Amino acid sequence: MEHTISISAQAERIVTDTSSLPFGKIPTEHMFICEYADGGWQNPRIVPFHDLTLNPMALCLHYGQTVFEGMKAFYMDDGRVNIFRMDKHHDRFTKSLHRMCMPEVPKALFEAAICKLVALDVEWIPRDGDGALYIRPFMIATEARVGVKIADEYLFMVVCSPTFQYYSHPLKVKIENHFVRAAEGGTGTAKCGGNYGGAFYPTQLAKDEGYDQVLWTDSKNHEFIEESGTMNAMFFIDNVLVTPPLSGSILDGVTRDSLLAIARETGVAVEERSISYKELVRAFEEGKRVEAFGAGTAAVVAPIASIAIEGTEYACYLGDDALMYRLKHQLFGIRKGLAPDNHGWNCILK
Ligand SMILES: Cc1ncc(COP(=O)(O)O)c(C=O)c1O
Repeated sequence: MEHTISISAQAERIVTDTSSLPFGKIPTEHMFICEYADGGWQNPRIVPFHDLTLNPMALCLHYGQTVFEGMKAFYMDDGRVNIFRMDKHHDRFTKSLHRMCMPEVPKALFEAAICKLVALDVEWIPRDGDGALYIRPFMIATEARVGVKIADEYLFMVVCSPTFQYYSHPLKVKIENHFVRAAEGGTGTAKCGGNYGGAFYPTQLAKDEGYDQVLWTDSKNHEFIEESGTMNAMFFIDNVLVTPPLSGSILDGVTRDSLLAIARETGVAVEERSISYKELVRAFEEGKRVEAFGAGTAAVVAPIASIAIEGTEYACYLGDDALMYRLKHQLFGIRKGLAPDNHGWNCILK
């Protein structure tokens, strides 16, 4: 079904200087909104950003039917605007929605909503280095009913916020060997709100101990590394880029996928396989050069400075010639249009 998106823009446009604001704090001037009722999406529209009115009995507030995505729009070197890998984000959104028994958003509607909103708020896209417009599509269950059930009514929305560098320094992380983020068969592969709510407490305990993040381990033995915060985990040891496989409990990261493709294409050996923290300990104790980093849309590549494992802190390699910096540079080259986009990742605004 064809959806026509109506646009009612602000009468007066004001672009705030956001360069010193924290990640995701300030919304742009407009948002996309669309309601699902009677089995279909209705009244898709772009309107000035405003607060929502929600019935206190809305099911999302009680039983957690919420799903979101996170992607970015950038300026390319030639001044055009690029929304990176919109189709892969839509695929993942669809999978997350399916896992949470929520209705799909047709790809055409998803892409049109994002493109029209970004085009309207284009002046909010930062032009400098690590700056980008963070795009947050999300869905919540709005049916008003205090009863455990799959909702019949939903809101699909898109909001945007200018963002800059996510982490200002290489991260100090610890292997989490008590708490669990997700177990196989659970919702770890879905980008649903509950996964994040449940991760706050263990992450806060780690922060209280002086760490920036935890490296989650598997739910059965706390041995195999899963992911970290809002990033997939990557290691470069013995000239091999190793990352945990998409086992069913980690998120299928778009940045992970992009970096692995770039690595493979540039002759780097890549292994998607389970990696035990014991293997890391061995590598550190043998004096090997261990690179570790997080890969995610928000941080892109977040270098890890040290990993604490069972009370010992091991230093990771951060030298200028590290693979992670090269991969990030190559990814930026593709996004900016300075290197060939062999996979059709760039969605360029017309
Ligand atoms: C739990 C989790 N893992 C990994 C990632 C990285 O995924 P992406 O590269 O698609 O942003 C994210 C961020 O979306 C995340 O929230």
